[in-house]
Amino acid sequence: MTRPTSIDAEPPIIVPATRAALRRALAAWYEQVRRDLPWRRTQDPYAIWVSEVMLQQTQVKTVVPYYQRFLECFPTIGHLARVDLQAVLKLWEGLGYYSRARNLHRAARMVVETMGGRVPDQWPAFRSLPGVGDYIAAAVLSIAFGRPYGVVDGNVKRVLARLFTMEIPVNGAGSHKPFQAVADQLLDVESPGQHNQAVMELGAAVCAPRNPLCEGCPLSRFCQAFKAHTVVQYPRRSVRRAVGRQQWAAGVVIRNGRLLLTQRPAAGLLAGLWEFPGGPVQTGAAPDLACNRAIRDMVGLEVHVEGHLVSVRHAYTHFKLQLEIFLCSAPQGRVRLHGPAAFRWVTLAQLDQLPLHKAVHKALAAEGVSETLRRCVVG
Ligand code: ADE
Repeated sequence: MTRPTSIDAEPPIIVPATRAALRRALAAWYEQVRRDLPWRRTQDPYAIWVSEVMLQQTQVKTVVPYYQRFLECFPTIGHLARVDLQAVLKLWEGLGYYSRARNLHRAARMVVETMGGRVPDQWPAFRSLPGVGDYIAAAVLSIAFGRPYGVVDGNVKRVLARLFTMEIPVNGAGSHKPFQAVADQLLDVESPGQHNQAVMELGAAVCAPRNPLCEGCPLSRFCQAFKAHTVVQYPRRSVRRAVGRQQWAAGVVIRNGRLLLTQRPAAGLLAGLWEFPGGPVQTGAAPDLACNRAIRDMVGLEVHVEGHLVSVRHAYTHFKLQLEIFLCSAPQGRVRLHGPAAFRWVTLAQLDQLPLHKAVHKALAAEGVSETLRRCVVG
């Protein structure tokens, strides 16, 4: 069925008869198990695009309510292009990876301003939009327009690595090309959208990373790893460096019953999101002093640290954060920004209306925090 595999980047060649049998088996299985999801009831390329952007880093069950709310608020690309980015970030709050929302919003404006308001149905134009990489382009163009592009995401790579015992590490530089070549060979050009969704679904529901359900897999008779009893050894991975850890300290600065929030700059980590002002704690430094200093540096206020409010841990993509939050008072002084894009003194109710980053949400949800804040702040 395939050339012998090796650890170089040469993709296996799948013979035509095998390709055809594999596609048929996959399509028949998908026909039976296909979940009725809201984005599968539409052919609207904008809605399908929104769904694929949300699904790119997030599980289906989390995406469904976000997708529904998003399309209720912004039913067309014109609606999305007209609204303020802050409104989009607010709806995205909790879904994470906020650059997805920022790019989608920018792309919607470009489609409206330079492409006549129609989602492009050709690769070069669509792929040129912000946030549209090979995955989004292949997914949207195949599902919405029936174009013959194979998708490659983490689930697809796992399915292909096992089917063809591909030795190339999935997390290594240069792994994308060989997986793309195999996905393209396998693609059912008669129904590329269905085929792509079927492979992704198989990866999510059957060909799971640790406990694959090989007995129920429609492709097990084609699967080289299954035949060799080596399924869980694929996909291969190269050893990664451990993720970094960072400690930050931040202050809930209270004045006249309001809290001080600052907005992160428009580019970089957590861009545009709101938070309590603060900054990194150098190794060995005292977090309360670091809090004091970071607030002075960022917003020009001399604060009194009144006490420790809460500790929060959160894993971002590239590092793990330990955040110490202190209650602070700042009876006088004008805010002068060095770093943040903006600041606001807010009531508790207004706090809910701004897009906050995840660690701030965790802090607010922690036991006792809202009671403490309610005692100090206007509702
Ligand atoms: N994962 C991302 N997009 C998907 C889709 N359209 N169908 C199944 N799984 C997916």
